[in-house]
Amino acid sequence: MTGFLDLRQTIQRLEEAGELHRISAEVDWDRELGAVTRKALEQKGPALLFEAIKGYRTGRCMRLVTSILASEARLRQVLGFPKNASNKDLVRHVLETNRKAIPPVQVDTGPVKQNIVTGEKIDLFEFPVPRWHPLEGGRYINTFASIVTRDPDTGVMNVGVYRGMISTKKSISVLLVKGGQHWGRHFQKYADRGQPMPVACVIGWDPMMDFIAGSPIAPGMCEYDVMGAYRGEPVQLIKCETSDLEVPASPEIVIEGFISADPSTFEMEGPFGEATGHISDIPALRPAIQVSCVTHRDNPIFRGTLEGTLPGSTSENGFMATIQRSASAWNILEGAGIPGIVDVVCTPITVGVNIVVQIRKAYQGQPKQIAAALWGNSASQYKYKNVIVVEEEIDPTSWEQIDWALAFRVNAGEGGITVFPGIFGSVLDPSTPLRDRDVDQLGCAQWNRVLIDATRNWTFERRKEWNDERFPPTVRLDPLDEARVLARWDEFGFPKSNQ
Ligand SMILES: Cc1cc2nc3c(=O)[nH]c(=O)nc-3n(C[C@H](O)[C@H](O)[C@H](O)COP(=O)(O)O)c2cc1C
Repeated sequence: MTGFLDLRQTIQRLEEAGELHRISAEVDWDRELGAVTRKALEQKGPALLFEAIKGYRTGRCMRLVTSILASEARLRQVLGFPKNASNKDLVRHVLETNRKAIPPVQVDTGPVKQNIVTGEKIDLFEFPVPRWHPLEGGRYINTFASIVTRDPDTGVMNVGVYRGMISTKKSISVLLVKGGQHWGRHFQKYADRGQPMPVACVIGWDPMMDFIAGSPIAPGMCEYDVMGAYRGEPVQLIKCETSDLEVPASPEIVIEGFISADPSTFEMEGPFGEATGHISDIPALRPAIQVSCVTHRDNPIFRGTLEGTLPGSTSENGFMATIQRSASAWNILEGAGIPGIVDVVCTPITVGVNIVVQIRKAYQGQPKQIAAALWGNSASQYKYKNVIVVEEEIDPTSWEQIDWALAFRVNAGEGGITVFPGIFGSVLDPSTPLRDRDVDQLGCAQWNRVLIDATRNWTFERRKEWNDERFPPTVRLDPLDEARVLARWDEFGFPKSNQ
């Protein structure tokens, strides 16, 4: 894959591929835009470019694009893979490229500096930010914003996707978890120094940025370097106006600001229609970005995403998670030196909360070692709550096959189920009682995680009658019988095509 694309080039490519739908009828940013997006997701539809948003037919920003990554085909296009590439090929590509680096280069200026808005002229309500869902506490401006922060000790920048709601015309309240998330670690370091943390929210650029920013790239590694490795060329960065942070030169919009750890500066945030498909939590006073500057291209296009996977309608985050979260897990397992990993699969619907690991079983304790490695890694903060391990003969992309393994390979009383209670986990999970999501009390939410070992149990006795195996043979056809009956298939009155 060569070369970065800005958002406009991406839109053009999607349109040429028949993967973009323009909506020129007027749509209300309040509820309606989110509802149209949800219906289109349910229909497994294209990316959407809203060109007539109520109240935004004129002004600073008049268009919004969404759902660019909300399909396997579009995600493969962004990653430079053919539509029919296998899960394993994509996951291995992402795993390997996440370890590579092409450092960025600095440039003097770029299109995002075409408009520079500071002081009292800043008004976030000038952007057509949706209230994506009626129960949301406000207008979420940061859904697919890639947020840049810098480690004050090492100087290395981090880029992550973190939600944020317009609180006032010059501030954005955010969900800022101090534990695992990398901006949270930076935030703690600035707090220890008694300084506010500079941030820059980059909205609308090469979709690779959202893909990488939403991925758990190793701490200390800069996402800009990794993005360079994916595109085979350095990201061109320019300096922010009000801090020493650096952002790409050609995104649509950059929002600069500072977040203080002083609770007197906190503002109300939430609830948000979260990745879990549920409304997130109880609104609370949370840290807020005090916006110091907005820069944007002429006639910018706002970029956002509808969060929340539901049966029958998943999200951009869900599709990203299939690849990223599988790659991240496989990387953890490789790093832990666990042999025999054949494939790793997260489906779009659970955004990486459930994971299936397919192995060539080498020893009885291998599935537990897999779960322990995943749960011990900070990348599992929001992910890998439920781990299923299957053997090579079970296709981990097929729920029919997994279901069969769950039925006939799992014995809950014989080590088939292992619960690891009270380990760190997600504040967002509605199946976790609020008392276990009390970050003020616990520092981080607590999860009860489960391993379902759907491999054959090696503590069972081998039996001569079963070819010295621990499980009886299956009723799968003997290959000789199969070949014989297929050779005579039409003789039995079946059409040849049914073979
Ligand atoms: C649309 C979207 C919204 C997200 N919102 C949040 C959020 O509000 N808070 C959070 O901690 N992580 C959120 N995430 C997950 C992080 O982006 C992800 O864990 C990423 O690895 C964080 O980057 P980091 O590893 O550099 O901290 C979101 C991801 C996506 C794709």
